Amino acid sequence: MSRPRSLAGRPVVITGAASGIGRALATRLSRLGSPVAVADVDEDGLKATAAALHGHVLTRVLDVRDAGDQLKFAAEVRDWLPAPLAAVFNNAGVAVTSTVLDAVPEDDDWLHDINFHGVVHGTRAFLPILVAQGEGAIVNTSSVFGLLGMPYQSAYCAAKFAVRGFTESLRQELRGTDVRAVTVHPGGITTNIARNARVRRDPEGRGRTHEQLAAQFEAMTMTSPDKAAAVIHAGVDRGKARILVGPDAYLFDALARITPTHYNAVLTRVMRRRRTEAA
Ligand SMILES: NC(=O)c1ccc[n+]([C@@H]2O[C@H](COP(=O)([O-])OP(=O)(O)OC[C@H]3O[C@@H](n4cnc5c(N)ncnc54)[C@H](O)[C@@H]3O)[C@@H](O)[C@H]2O)c1
Repeated sequence: MSRPRSLAGRPVVITGAASGIGRALATRLSRLGSPVAVADVDEDGLKATAAALHGHVLTRVLDVRDAGDQLKFAAEVRDWLPAPLAAVFNNAGVAVTSTVLDAVPEDDDWLHDINFHGVVHGTRAFLPILVAQGEGAIVNTSSVFGLLGMPYQSAYCAAKFAVRGFTESLRQELRGTDVRAVTVHPGGITTNIARNARVRRDPEGRGRTHEQLAAQFEAMTMTSPDKAAAVIHAGVDRGKARILVGPDAYLFDALARITPTHYNAVLTRVMRRRRTEAA
């Protein structure tokens, strides 16, 4: 296995590029000279991202839930590529907030189709390109909620644990090759994820609106999308298998090892303190 090469100047594919972490990654890597293929279901947001990119760009409206369209997109990328593909960021994702008791099955299915199956479809579509080249990275976005279970996030945690399991399994299959499978575990990043979430009611029954819950989430976040993109980029360049993003991600990772059954008490205290600070 050779040392990984920097992504800068080399082609990448990014899903969920119309907003948040995906947009920040696209902007960063394009600025550093990478040809960028950006995809998202949000056409207007994608256009806004594309307007900020330089040089070689492919924009593609794509619903990551559609396995057939992911294959077509991969074929288009193969024809477009000016050089071997350096990385595929399966980043698109959504959120649902609900108790298990009140869960709406169609909301949970929507989330699983995007956050887990979208990642699987993207991996299956692009992996043959990387294997044929003999190099490159599949970079799948899990979460700190793929390290620990959180109340009112059962569907999200299940999907993010699944992304982690899927990607870690793939990593073992790729051992001894220069194709890598990387898992990203962001902590709270200040993006649109909470505003775009499906929330039917305040899961704690305190009457907070979706808007208030989103504002509360944003107040708790510790990392900007640009900073997250920089950390993810540096992690892939260094050949990391697992990238933790943000100080809170290191706390989650430590808690998962130190206190795998009692972490909630610690997290509740930390979150209460952050909420007080934010207020
Ligand atoms: N923001 C956080 O705190 C945080 C923490 C951990 C993990 N993540 C993960 O990071 C990734 C990026 O999220 P973000 O925070 O930038 O959120 P965001 O809402 O700002 O961006 C997500 C993007 O995914 C796109 N998307 C949604 N459904 C899609 C579909 N079916 N097909 C294609 N694109 C679709 C959206 O249009 C949007 O542009 C997600 O996988 C998310 O779960 C985010």
